[in-house]
Amino acid sequence: DTDPLVIFTPSGKRGRVPVGTPVLEAARRLGVDLDSVCGGRGICSKCQVAPAYGSFPKHGVTVGHDALSPVNAVERRYDEKRGLKPGRRLGCQARILGDVVLDVPPESQLHRQVVRKAAEVRAVEMDPATRLLMVEVAEPDMHAPSGDLERLNTALAAQWDTPPAVASLPVLGRLQQTLRKGGWQVTVALHQGHLDATPRILDVWPGFFEGPLYGLAIDLGSTTIAAHLADLTTGEVRASAGVMNPQIRFGEDLMSRVSYAMMNPCGAVDMTTAVRSALGDLAKGIAEDAAIDPRLIVEATLVCNPVMHHLALGIDPVELGQAPFALATSDALALDAADLGLTTINPAARAYVLPLIAGHVGADAAAVALSEAPEKSDDLVLIVDVGTNAEMLLGDRTRVLACSSPTGPAFEGAQISSGQRAAPGAIERVRIDPATKEPRYRVIGCDLWSDEAGFAEAAGKVTGICGSGIIEAVAEMRMAGLVDGSGLIGSSEATGTARCIPEGRTHAFVLHDGRATSGPLIKVTQGDIRAIQLAKSALYAGARLLMDRMGVDHIDRVVLAGAFGAHISPLHAMVLGMIPDVPLDRVRSAGNAAGTGARIALCSRAARALVEANVRRIEKIETAVEPRFQEHFVAANALPHATDPFLELAK
Ligand code: FES
Repeated sequence: DTDPLVIFTPSGKRGRVPVGTPVLEAARRLGVDLDSVCGGRGICSKCQVAPAYGSFPKHGVTVGHDALSPVNAVERRYDEKRGLKPGRRLGCQARILGDVVLDVPPESQLHRQVVRKAAEVRAVEMDPATRLLMVEVAEPDMHAPSGDLERLNTALAAQWDTPPAVASLPVLGRLQQTLRKGGWQVTVALHQGHLDATPRILDVWPGFFEGPLYGLAIDLGSTTIAAHLADLTTGEVRASAGVMNPQIRFGEDLMSRVSYAMMNPCGAVDMTTAVRSALGDLAKGIAEDAAIDPRLIVEATLVCNPVMHHLALGIDPVELGQAPFALATSDALALDAADLGLTTINPAARAYVLPLIAGHVGADAAAVALSEAPEKSDDLVLIVDVGTNAEMLLGDRTRVLACSSPTGPAFEGAQISSGQRAAPGAIERVRIDPATKEPRYRVIGCDLWSDEAGFAEAAGKVTGICGSGIIEAVAEMRMAGLVDGSGLIGSSEATGTARCIPEGRTHAFVLHDGRATSGPLIKVTQGDIRAIQLAKSALYAGARLLMDRMGVDHIDRVVLAGAFGAHISPLHAMVLGMIPDVPLDRVRSAGNAAGTGARIALCSRAARALVEANVRRIEKIETAVEPRFQEHFVAANALPHATDPFLELAK
C-alpha cells in the first residue's frame, strides 16, 4: 500500500489516505475530532494541528519534513494577519504527502473535554447543541429564482451536510442585509437539539464570526436562583450570579406557594410573571458582569423542583399540592428561551428543561443524578439534596431509586426561634464544651470563633442562627448532655449550667446573649429542637425507605448535595441521625451538584439524552403512600435515633 499513513494523536486513530488529501479531510475520514468553523477557508484556525517529525518506532513510521505540503498563500496570509503558533499548521490547508504523525491540540478538538474541578466526578465531552458554521452562499439569480434562506440552506447542506434549517423572524429580518454585507459569506449559529426535528438558525453574522457563543445553566430554587454563564466552545464558566427567588413574597416554601395558587385567582400567573422577570434580569446582569454582548447567549438549561418547574412554564401547580401529585409533564422540554422570560439574551435562544423524576422529585434531582452518576457507581451511594424537601437517590450500577421527603424549612433556618438564612451575622458553627457546657461559635462574615481575641466587634453583629448552625447546636447539645435522647432540654439544675433557662413549661439554652449591645438573645428552644427532630426524622425515614426497597441494611457512602450539603458538618448530621450511619470519611459534599448537572446538559446533547434515559429508569418511590415511611419517621425521632446503633463518634 503506497498511500501515506497518517496517525493522529492523542486519539491514536490512524489510516491511509491518498497523497494530497488535506489534513482536515483525512481527519473527517478517520473519525478524528478536528474542529472547523470556516469550512476550510483558512479563516477560523480551529483546524490547527501540530505535526511531529522524526522516527516513531511506537507507530512504526518515520516522518520527514516533506510529509506535509509547504505553507501555501492562504496559510501564510493567516499567519501574517493573526499569527500561528510555532509548529502549527492549518489542517484545512496542509495536505498529506507522506507518512505523518499529527497532534490535535485540545483547542482544535470539537468534542474536547469540559474542564472539570478535581472534586467533580464526571468529565464531559463538549457536544453543544449550537455551533458556529461559516458558509459561502450562492448569489441570487433571476433565471433560477430562490430566496436567500433557501440558498443559505443549500449552502449549509453542501458545505456542512446539515438538513434544511428554519430561521426565526428576527434572523430573517437580518438575513438579506447580512449576506450582502458579508459578500455572500456568513457565519450562522446553527442549533440542532436532540429533541428537535429541524435545525434552527439562531443568528447570522457577515463573513467569519469567531464567537464564542455562550449558554446559561440555571438552577431555579425556591429560595435562590443561580446561573452560570458558560462558553459553549470550551465549557468554561465565565461568570456566575444568584438572586433571591421573588416568589418568596407569595410564600416561603413550596407548599405555601401552591396554596397561594389555590387561594388566589391570579396567584399562579403572578408567581410565573415574577420568576420570569427575575430570570430575564439575572441573564442581563450576568452578561454585564462578564462584559459580553447578551446576543451571544444562545442557549439555556433549566433545573428546578416540580413546583418551580410548573410555575416557570406557566402551568398551575395545584395538582402538585394534592395526591396523586400528577405532573403536567415529566418529560424534558426544548423551548424558546424567551418563553421562560429570558428575553434579555439572543431573541432566538433555545432553552432545555431537564426532565422531572416524579411529582416530588424534580429536574434538580435529575441534574444531581447527571452530575453524580449513581448509575455508574460500584458501591451503593445515597445522594441527598436538602432543601425544603429532601430529594434522595439511592443506587449503584444495578438500580437507582428516588424519593422525596418533606423535611420542611427548618434546615434552612426557618421555623427556628432565632433562625435566619445563611447570611452575614448568622451563627453557622457551634461547639459546646462537654465539661463546662460553655458554647463557642462562628458567625458568617467573620473568621474568628467567639472565644478568640478580636471577636468582640463581630459579636455586636450577630443576628441569628442558620441551618447548619442549628444542626450543630442541637448535635453539640446532645453530646454535652444538655438534651436527652428524646430531645428534651434539661433544667439548669439537671445540666449544671445557668445557660439552660426556663421558658414556659420547658427550657431553652442560651447560645448568645447580645442584649448588652442591644443585640438579640439567641437561644435554642424546645420548639427548635422539635422542629429539627421532625426535619431530620423525615430525612432519615426517606433514606430508610429507599434502603428497604433496595433490600439493604447498610449503604457504602453518602453524598450531600446543594448549598446546604456544602455547609453541613457530616459529623453533626450523623450525631443527629439525619443520615444513615456510614464511616465519616465516606460522606462527601458535592456542592451545587444540580447546578453542575445543568452545566453538563448545557455543554452536551449526549448528556441530555443520557439524563432522559436515566430518569426513565429510576424507580420512583412515593413516601406519602408508604406505611413504612411513618414507622421509620416515628422511630427516627430520638437523638440520634432508635433504629441504628449509637454512633461511636457521638459518645
Ligand atoms: Fe478554518 Fe482551517 S477550517 S482555518
